[in-house]
Amino acid sequence: MKIIGFNASPRKSGNTAWAIGQILEGAAEAGAGTRMFNSGELNINPCKGCLGCVKGDGCVVADDMRPIYAELKESDALVFGSPLYMAQMSGQAKVFTDRLFAQITPRFSPRFKEENAGKKLILVFTQGNPDQSKFQAYYDYTKSMFQMLEFDVQDFIVATGTRSGQASDNIELRDLLRESGRKLALGSTQLAVN
Ligand SMILES: Cc1cc2nc3c(=O)[nH]c(=O)nc-3n(C[C@H](O)[C@H](O)[C@H](O)COP(=O)(O)O)c2cc1C
Repeated sequence: MKIIGFNASPRKSGNTAWAIGQILEGAAEAGAGTRMFNSGELNINPCKGCLGCVKGDGCVVADDMRPIYAELKESDALVFGSPLYMAQMSGQAKVFTDRLFAQITPRFSPRFKEENAGKKLILVFTQGNPDQSKFQAYYDYTKSMFQMLEFDVQDFIVATGTRSGQASDNIELRDLLRESGRKLALGSTQLAVN
C-alpha cells in the first residue's frame, strides 16, 4: 500500500506535521510506503477556473501540484492534515482541495473512476481550542465534502488544545494516530473517533 500525506500548515515542524507524521509512521510500520508533502515548502497556486482540466489532460497550472497529482494517482490513500484557521481549514488546505478539481468531473464523480474512486482518506485537524464541539459542525461538513468527492473517509482525528502545549506531548493522541495509520495500511480502519 502506498500512502501520501499533505500537511496544509505552513509550519513544517508544527502540530499538524507531527500528527500526519505519526499516522504515516504507524502505516509504515505495518508495511506501507509513505511520502509527505509540506505545503510550506511548495509552490501551489489557486485554481484558475480555466476548466482546462475538463477539456484536456489534467491541470494546466505548472507548479508543485504536478508531482502531487502523479503521486496521488499512484497511491491508495491520502492523509490530509490542516490546522484550524478562523474555524476552517487553512488557506493552503483550501487551495489544495480546489486543485483536486482537476481529477474530478464537473458532476463530482471521479474522472479516473477505476483507479481513483474510493481512494482512502484520513482527515486530521489540529486546533488551539480545547473544545472540539465548538467546530464540530465544520468538521462534519468537511467530512461530507470529501465524501462527495468520492474519497473513502476512513478516519477523522482532531487534536485539540494545541494553544496550551504541543500536540506531541499527548501520548494518548500519539497512540491513536499511529493506530489509525496501522489500520489504514492493513486495510481494516474503522471510523474510530468523531
Ligand atoms: C491564523 C490562525 C488562525 C487560527 N484559528 C483558530 C481557530 O479558529 N480555532 C482554534 O481552535 N485554533 C485556531 N488557531 C490555532 C491553530 O489551529 C493551532 O495552533 C494549530 O495546532 C496550529 O497548527 P500547526 O502547529 O501545524 O501550524 C489559529 C492559528 C492561526 C495561526
